[in-house]
Amino acid sequence: MINIAVLGYGTIGSGVVEVLNTNRESITKRAGNELNVKYVLDRREFPGDPIMEKLVQDINIILDDPEIKIVVEVMGGVEPAFTFVKSALLKGKSVITSNKELVAKHGAELLKIAKEGEINFLFEASVGGGIPIIRPLNQSLTADEIVEITGILNGTTNYVLSKMSEEGLDFETALKNAQEMGYAERDPSADVEGHDSCRKIAILSSLAYGMQVDFEDIYTEGIENITDTDIKYAKAMDARIKLFATSVRGDDDQVYAMVAPMMIKANHPLYSVNDVFNGIFVEGNVIGDVMFYGSGAGKLPTASAVVADVVDAAKHMTKNIWTIWSSKKLVLTDINEVKHRFFIRVPNNLNGVLEEAKALLGEVEEVKAQGVEGEIGLLTCEIREESINEIKKRIPEILSVIRVRF
Ligand code: HSE
Repeated sequence: MINIAVLGYGTIGSGVVEVLNTNRESITKRAGNELNVKYVLDRREFPGDPIMEKLVQDINIILDDPEIKIVVEVMGGVEPAFTFVKSALLKGKSVITSNKELVAKHGAELLKIAKEGEINFLFEASVGGGIPIIRPLNQSLTADEIVEITGILNGTTNYVLSKMSEEGLDFETALKNAQEMGYAERDPSADVEGHDSCRKIAILSSLAYGMQVDFEDIYTEGIENITDTDIKYAKAMDARIKLFATSVRGDDDQVYAMVAPMMIKANHPLYSVNDVFNGIFVEGNVIGDVMFYGSGAGKLPTASAVVADVVDAAKHMTKNIWTIWSSKKLVLTDINEVKHRFFIRVPNNLNGVLEEAKALLGEVEEVKAQGVEGEIGLLTCEIREESINEIKKRIPEILSVIRVRF
């Protein structure tokens, strides 16, 4: 029997306990050993829940118990999670986490400690909820140089954009629904403003390129400025707006990374990734394109990925599973140098504004949306980010700017 401790009995923690109970038999077979939850750490009480028997409030009970071989951290946030996880690893316990803030910030350091101790620090659930993506990057796509990773990595924003587009829900109602279903972060601005996706693409990029990609260096925009008028234009073009998290390695080995809303059409592999689902598109220089798809948030999908890591740790009790993520910093390409096509909404009833925009943007295609008056959409050719920013400054009347991938 392998004893484990679960830190945090919130949505994911209770899901982990539920998954271990529901699939006890098959999990035991796969792990080669019975997995027993000996402790759950939480400051709260849960009257009537059988978990009360295992509840502790002092981390040292877990850290000092030599019977605990695996610690599952599902508390979220950097502290005290980092201190608890680091202490557990230093005491020779493998750690499993779903905590993307922790992994993005301290992943390289925690992996190093795990490697030195011949134990494991695993974090499949930190990106893409229930979708296997960390293990494929670490253990399957090892023959390839990764050229691009583009993902819809946040279930909440994908749900909000899908509901605004399909059902005409307003932003607030769609977000409230996502929160009620347990998809959103405690502070949903981390979802809406793109910070959650930013941490996730930082983790995937660090794993893919083997160096530390600091999430602070990644240009990040959220969906807070997307309006129902933008969605009307997208529909007029048979396009959808998705929050993309992207990192691309160029021929010169330079990597750029960004999180931003993107207009895409049906020919893009991520077009049909709707609702709370996540999709991750990976391009390798040998394999070509690979897609990963599944539930990107929610109690049981995320718990499924956490428990799969527990099984992996149980199978590798004294052997570190090698990962190439080093602490050496990867300096990203300046985002100003990157080129995109843009969709730009400009008023057509203000003297000279449309003419000036057209003169600055070069060749453009005009787009009209049904029921939208007093403005017009312009689709540009590829333009550098820096140039678009200059044009936005020169023409403050511009109503919105969204990148386009078609
Ligand atoms: N808030 C996150 C999301 C949870 O909506 O995707 C999963 O990381």
